[in-house]
Amino acid sequence: MKIVETILEVRQQVKEWRMEGLSVGLVPTMGYLHEGHKSLIDRAVAENDRVVVSVFVNPMQFAPSEDLESYPRDMDRDAAICEKAGASLIFHPEPEEMYHEGFSSFVDMTTLTGGLCGKSRPIHFRGVCTVVAKLFNIVTPDRAYFGQKDAQQLAVIRHMVRDLDFGIEIVGCPIIREEDGLAKSSRNTYLNVDERQAALILSKALAKGKALLETGEKDAAKICQTILDDIATEPMAKVDYVEVVDWNTLEPVETVARDVLVAIAVFIGKTRLIDNFIYEL
Ligand code: PAJ
Repeated sequence: MKIVETILEVRQQVKEWRMEGLSVGLVPTMGYLHEGHKSLIDRAVAENDRVVVSVFVNPMQFAPSEDLESYPRDMDRDAAICEKAGASLIFHPEPEEMYHEGFSSFVDMTTLTGGLCGKSRPIHFRGVCTVVAKLFNIVTPDRAYFGQKDAQQLAVIRHMVRDLDFGIEIVGCPIIREEDGLAKSSRNTYLNVDERQAALILSKALAKGKALLETGEKDAAKICQTILDDIATEPMAKVDYVEVVDWNTLEPVETVARDVLVAIAVFIGKTRLIDNFIYEL
């Protein structure tokens, strides 16, 4: 497995693979890889001849108040995980390689990005779309792999690919959890012992919402309230949002009549955690 830092090296490698007629999968990440990322790499390795993993903590998707500087990084460990999983290439650029001086073009979206995480992170998805569009242009993969953990991101990327005709298959992969239910996340490392325990409230509260849906409840407000009430039992938790939205449009629904995304964001101490489930009718 190779690790390269320049766009040119990625292009040259992919060109060689293409001349051999090989298919290419891409797994975009910000590194500090865990089992969630690994599940994406495993799937990509199973479905493509060669797999590129990008490891890039993208400054453009972080607001000044957010955790860009403290975001965990461990390239040696990431490389070992990728190699073991069977990836062929890691693309690990410096910010200057991705954003040259004078960079001023962005990919933005007028739907899907205003609600849910977009409300408290207004510049986030512009940064995500721009970097992912760049990675798609650099790697030109056949398929790219994204986790349902970031369900809004998955929907936004699918929409971008359709709007801008990238001709890349977007593969959505299920949420990987710790044994006790906490969704795996690089940001879980910010939690102290008490916060780690308190963080269980996210998956627990979502399970209550799901159970209610499964009894036939269609009233989105009631489902939200059940989840909010459960989160309120955890003193360390502060809700950012609890929402039931249409899984296609990400618009809030009053009644569950189509496939919905039930998504939450909750602060545990200073750490903002997200979790969700998709309820298919
Ligand atoms: P990052 O948070 O590193 O996540 C990389 C990919 O791993 C995303 O598609 C995310 O949904 C997936 N992932 C993370 N935790 C997961 C889990 N517990 N189960 C399943 N999949 C999981 O998302 C980003 O990076 C960035 O926004 C990026 C797309 C790389 C653009 O910078």
